[in-house]
Amino acid sequence: MTESVPVDSASTDAWKHLEGIAEDFSPDLRGWFAADASRAATYTFQAADLTVDLSKSFLTEEILGHLLQLANDVDVAGRYQAMIEGRHINVTEDRAVLHTALRRPKNGAGLVPPAGFVVDGEDIDAAVHHTLDKVYAFADTVRSGEWKGVTGKRIETVVNIGIGGSDLGPVMVYDALMPYVQPGIQCRFVSNIDPSDIFEKTADLDPETTLFIVASKTFGTLETLTNARLARQWLWNALSTTGAISDSDADRKDAVAKHFVAVSTALDKVEAFGIDPQNAFGFWDWVGGRYSVDSAIGTAVIVAIGPDNWREFLAGFHAIDEHMRTTPLAQNVPVLMGLLNVWYTNFLKAQSHAVLPYAQYLSRFPAYLQQLTMESNGKSVKWDGSPVTTDTGEIFWGEPGTNGQHAFYQLIHQGTRLIPADFIAVANPARPLKDETGDGHGVEPGQDVHALFMANFFAQTKALAFGKTADEVRAEGTAESVVPARVFAGNRPTTSILAPALTPSVIGQLIALYEHIVFTEGTIWGIDSFDQWGVELGKQLALQVTPAVAGDAAALESQDASTKALIEKYLELRSN
Ligand code: F6P
Repeated sequence: MTESVPVDSASTDAWKHLEGIAEDFSPDLRGWFAADASRAATYTFQAADLTVDLSKSFLTEEILGHLLQLANDVDVAGRYQAMIEGRHINVTEDRAVLHTALRRPKNGAGLVPPAGFVVDGEDIDAAVHHTLDKVYAFADTVRSGEWKGVTGKRIETVVNIGIGGSDLGPVMVYDALMPYVQPGIQCRFVSNIDPSDIFEKTADLDPETTLFIVASKTFGTLETLTNARLARQWLWNALSTTGAISDSDADRKDAVAKHFVAVSTALDKVEAFGIDPQNAFGFWDWVGGRYSVDSAIGTAVIVAIGPDNWREFLAGFHAIDEHMRTTPLAQNVPVLMGLLNVWYTNFLKAQSHAVLPYAQYLSRFPAYLQQLTMESNGKSVKWDGSPVTTDTGEIFWGEPGTNGQHAFYQLIHQGTRLIPADFIAVANPARPLKDETGDGHGVEPGQDVHALFMANFFAQTKALAFGKTADEVRAEGTAESVVPARVFAGNRPTTSILAPALTPSVIGQLIALYEHIVFTEGTIWGIDSFDQWGVELGKQLALQVTPAVAGDAAALESQDASTKALIEKYLELRSN
């Protein structure tokens, strides 16, 4: 299974030095800033449009030096190069890992690897751009109204049916780029096999103006195929109820042809489902599901925002890919952020990592990142099959600010756990509203509401870093008995990411940034970040348990005692 033997990070000198520092590590952000007037400048970096401030993190020159040595020891740069050249670094599936190829410009000069590079006998750029052109042409026909439903009406709602990487990316980007969506077109996303999902998402839709995109890399995922059949059933029933089609095979086939398209690497299975291969967009096994939002898996979003915006989105990814490839490690933002996460996770024993977008349009970004990081790096063996020698994986979680401030920030500010947090914001809001009246208590008439929002963004990282001492609390006249409860210890590490605006390019940049953070961490841990065998057992058992849930006595008898008792209780409770 080995592509090469991973360097054992834990036995490097750099690792041992970091362990030594961590033993009696006592961060002092107040002191570090007081002692070094250039700390903010030293630890603020630029990657394309993203300004990334690591100065409120637990970095010192010494720590950074060892982390960079670690990155060199495991050859992060060399492994990245191997990835973008199409080497089979996904060893357990014997596959290349080429999501970076999805966003290379057409006929780009000076590309590395050069334009037209071939992997496993395929010209990668040609394949990518052939598919992109096909999706763009399709999107244009839907956007212009040229694509008609079975009764001749134009499409108004695109329903993406997919799960995991075939859902989280498209829904996150659709939400993030809502201001770019063409008026008159909306997208919906059905993912869960819980039938209430498809029921609610289709309940108020007009079948004559609805188009389904069945998005599944394998076209074998139980949830997606079940929902696709339910959608087809809904379409046929709804169209025949109004008399728009009869129940004949020919009419039903025609309805599917006009209201279903598919995105998959398994085009034979798409055809078997009844979708015209002409209306299917392919991708390749060298694109992992959680790395596929910029492939044809994004078709629903391409229809919504149009090919020009999508090109910008891809250019944003590519700008960060180039930053990752060409920037020395000491200024390389994804590498630095990945190393910092390793410092927090492996040495300071942080158990989770908050991602806090100060942008309502990014509300699904933490959920998207959960799949990206946890499916990629939640592994117990290295890429050569040997057991890992360090902790792996990060638990990402989060909600948009300022909502989170009024919910879970208490624990980040004053709890006992170390929770590094990434704060993300943009300077220019898509909806620049003003509070015309103000409140007479500090919010002046005409107040720019985005500025109010941003004041919270800046205030939170400041409070987390520098806290409030007992003396400062006392100076406010606080009763002595309450002083301890009102002290903020500070020294809560944060990273601030600031971008000009939530443009398609910036969204692409943010995604690529986190992809390469995950890559850096996976390389340090020596793991294959591109397989996901850990999701298989549950899938197999679900199929095995299904007959028992349907009441099959023998199947029920073969379950373990706990599962059997739970199913029996379920059967007893079930009334419809
Ligand atoms: O079960 C996990 C997974 O394989 C993810 O990796 C993937 O994104 C998701 O299921 C959906 O898979 P597919 O696109 O093949 O339907």
